[in-house]
Amino acid sequence: MKQLIAILIVLVLSMPAYAGIKVIGGGDNIEIDTAGFPPNMKSAYDLMRMKCRKCHSLERAIVAIQTGVAPISGGIFDKGATAAYGVKMLRKPDSNMTKPDVKIVVGLLNFLLDKAEQ
Ligand code: HEC
Repeated sequence: MKQLIAILIVLVLSMPAYAGIKVIGGGDNIEIDTAGFPPNMKSAYDLMRMKCRKCHSLERAIVAIQTGVAPISGGIFDKGATAAYGVKMLRKPDSNMTKPDVKIVVGLLNFLLDKAEQ
């Protein structure tokens, strides 16, 4: 029994603690809590709120970050994939985004992916 408890403790301790990202609200009004973010990531989030909510809510990006899976296509959503998703959004008709905008948002997505894993 003691051994079993010891094994369980080791298992629990070796699991990564998913502190994740904090969200406020849900559905169409979902927001990311940027408290404690560095200033450049806070301004990147302001840009994301402005640009990425034109066609859908931030829920898609948030779910992708939290699960590692893009919610519509089911594709992998990791740091190797964020730039491609950014470009895909840029190329949508009337996306109203520039390449520099997308670069900034992709930087934020990567920052959030790191945070989601911590
Ligand atoms: C011009 C409209 C438009 C804008 C602006 C837009 N999106 Fe999208 N987004 C879409 C559409 C349409 C889809 C549906 C799936 C697809 O076509 O990729 C989508 C899907 C997504 C998905 C899910 C992709 C998948 O494969 O499951 C994510 C994540 C996403 N958007 C993030 C963003 C981010 C981040 C931004 C801002 C940089 C953004 N979107 C801006 C139209 C837009």
